[in-house]
Amino acid sequence: MSLIEIENLSKVYTIGDTSTHALRAVSLQIDDGEFVTVMGPSGSGKSTFLTIVGGLSAPMSGRVVIDEIDIYSLRRDGLSDLRREYIGFVFQSFNLVPYLNVLENVLLPLAPTGMQAKKQTAVAGDILTEVGLYEKAKHLPGELSGGEQQRVAIARALINDPLIILADEPTGNLDTATSESIMQLFKLLNERGKTILMVTHNPGYRSYSTRAIDFRDGTIVGDDMKYIPQMSADYREGREFQQNIWTHD
Ligand SMILES: Nc1ncnc2c1ncn2[C@@H]1O[C@H](COP(=O)(O)OP(=O)(O)OP(=O)(O)O)[C@@H](O)[C@H]1O
Ligand SMILES: [Mg+2]
Repeated sequence: MSLIEIENLSKVYTIGDTSTHALRAVSLQIDDGEFVTVMGPSGSGKSTFLTIVGGLSAPMSGRVVIDEIDIYSLRRDGLSDLRREYIGFVFQSFNLVPYLNVLENVLLPLAPTGMQAKKQTAVAGDILTEVGLYEKAKHLPGELSGGEQQRVAIARALINDPLIILADEPTGNLDTATSESIMQLFKLLNERGKTILMVTHNPGYRSYSTRAIDFRDGTIVGDDMKYIPQMSADYREGREFQQNIWTHD
């Protein structure tokens, strides 16, 4: 079974008399260790898809199964525990708390875990070092560049050591050079074992990923599965010959 099994997701938003079919029976399987970029025109359902996969919003029908857990069959507490344990979110707009410093922002998700304060600070220190911001631990978000703020958000997403990182246009507010460095960081995290699902509008960023998916009108119209880094033996058998003919964009 894949780490993330997505089956027949549908979602309709209704406001007044208007209904929008944001997702139409979307199915997808994502294995441990994949880095999937998700592209598609504005309004094609990418963010809706990501929030449903991340346990933030229930689908109208269909299932999301993470590590063999049917996440929307969980009660509310169970679902938030699952999110904390398995998933780190990164958004376009960083979503940092402006009056908390870098360290305090990064520590926020640990509050409900009851981890010892000393241990918390040690874990956060390691992660801030990893994203290159250890020196800025006492700074407020407003004193940082956009790229640095996004690194803080990434550190916060990593603090519970989740298996999965979901990122919705994480470079959308950043200039080209800064964006490249953020993509390098995601690539590194993937190489260290994180499974990543990232919405992006930049086709150039497909090259950082191991697989690219295209959305149109609430359905997946393209899936290149170009390279699967950590395949199980039986999975490899079926895919090996194809790997040779898939090329990076
Ligand atoms: N909370 C909501 N209420 C009503 N309609 C919504 C809501 N969220 C999204 N939609 C609609 O659902 C469709 C899919 O939206 P979604 O945000 O998933 O698209 P997207 O692919 O992420 O677009 P973008 O690239 O602009 O971020 C759109 O038509 C959008 O207007
Ligand atoms: Mg979106």
